Amino acid sequence: MSKIIILTGAGISAESGIETFRAETGLWAQHRVEDVATPEGFLRDPQLVVDFYNARRAQAAEAQPNAAHKALARLEAEHRGDVLVVTQNVDDLHERGGTQNLIHMHGALNSALCGRCDHRWPAPLQMAVGNACPACDAPAARPDIVWFGEMPYQMERIFTALGQADIFAAIGTSGNVYPAAGFVAEAAGAGAQTLEINLEPSAVGSQFDKALLGPATQTVTAWVEDILNSN
Ligand code: OAD
Repeated sequence: MSKIIILTGAGISAESGIETFRAETGLWAQHRVEDVATPEGFLRDPQLVVDFYNARRAQAAEAQPNAAHKALARLEAEHRGDVLVVTQNVDDLHERGGTQNLIHMHGALNSALCGRCDHRWPAPLQMAVGNACPACDAPAARPDIVWFGEMPYQMERIFTALGQADIFAAIGTSGNVYPAAGFVAEAAGAGAQTLEINLEPSAVGSQFDKALLGPATQTVTAWVEDILNSN
């Protein structure tokens, strides 16, 4: 019974209408990373940062999970071995598509984090600068997003799973951001078969055993069908 670990990135949500980061007209062409995705940017201009994530949260709330999200939920439900999805995405389309064994390694738009005491609570659709923390009352609410320079969540659990994986698949991620871009080397080193599913080869594409190129709604659905047929 094979253990499957799947890393997802913005590409899996693209066909749900959520912009990716590094496309020519993507989010990082419209906003400076250092302004909206670093602790220093938040200190400098918290309103700009809160507005940026309020817009992302509103966009995610209107989007629906697509066939690729749903196929991964089906894989988890029907595969006889373990399936773990590790997502870099901060939208909630995996969970709304039915995936349960899920790690949001870069945080989540629907969560707020206290900058003072680390308490987490459900974020309102529109956060405001200086919202009070329900646990310690400090006016220190921030989006629960892992910014550049911060440590992604649950790394120990992820590296343990990578070390035990039989199959590692990366879906819709450009391979530019570490530590996620290093997962393929970690899994391959531990003996996993590796597969990249993307529109085009990523920055670390040459490190995978195989590639499945095309839009995620088609490729992921076909891949899941194959795995379940070989179960
Ligand atoms: P990117 O925007 O860097 O890459 C998106 C990837 O998805 C690209 O490799 C595209 O080829 C692919 N893609 C686009 N549409 C697709 C489709 N329909 N089907 C399959 N693949 C498709 O996004 P990420 O790799 O997720 O971090 O970015 C990683 C991190 O960088 C993000 O989590 C974010 C960002 O800065 C933080 O904000 C902390």
